[in-house]
Amino acid sequence: PIAPPLSGELLAWYDRHARDLPWRVGPNARGRPDPYAVWLSEIMLQQTTVATVGPRYAEFLTRWPDVNAMAAAPQEDILGQWAGLGYYARARNLHKCAVVVANDHGGVFPDNEDGLRALPGIGDYTAAAIAAIAFDQRAIVIDGNVERVVSRLYEIETPLPAAKSEIRERLEKIWPDKRSGDFAQSLMDLGASICRPKAPSCLLCPISKHCAAQKAGTQENFPVKAAK
Ligand code: ADE
Repeated sequence: PIAPPLSGELLAWYDRHARDLPWRVGPNARGRPDPYAVWLSEIMLQQTTVATVGPRYAEFLTRWPDVNAMAAAPQEDILGQWAGLGYYARARNLHKCAVVVANDHGGVFPDNEDGLRALPGIGDYTAAAIAAIAFDQRAIVIDGNVERVVSRLYEIETPLPAAKSEIRERLEKIWPDKRSGDFAQSLMDLGASICRPKAPSCLLCPISKHCAAQKAGTQENFPVKAAK
């Protein structure tokens, strides 16, 4: 599929404005990122903010620089290091996953969504994020930020969570073949810094001219949430 202009425009914006986040730098920043580091960051970011994860992520990487090191550690050490991050099932699955990758996969993470999703603690979002960011696979990555951006771009009237399939179809049409991980992260950054839930900064948005909600002035009506 040929990505439309908005995809290239968003990537060009990302090249200039990508947030300087710890898991985006390191020895492999200009090649492929280390799948272990991407996995660790994405698990930590599931229910914890970017600001909190930053320093804690660095501590984990220093203590366990690769998946074999983490697998060899006692589970209680992982849980101890996780203190304060909440949702401790994530920490238990972190160790479980490290053990499976070390023992059953020779210490090498699977390079595709299905293989990743089969691992402990890795669901649809995380499998897609790792496949895109670490392996440059054309995996469609959808988190809350991405849902908000897309539902505004196309004024998706279906309420969440039912809107998910429509959001995925829209993303299928704009997702580029190249730089899949950057594209995923450009959507996340746009949602976090510009296409915010309240008072989005449409004047600074690199793709506002493609945005149906911006044209209609209905930005804050999207995403539509199911009535409780
Ligand atoms: N939230 C979850 N994963 C992220 C990433 N890779 N970059 C920015 N925010 C994120």
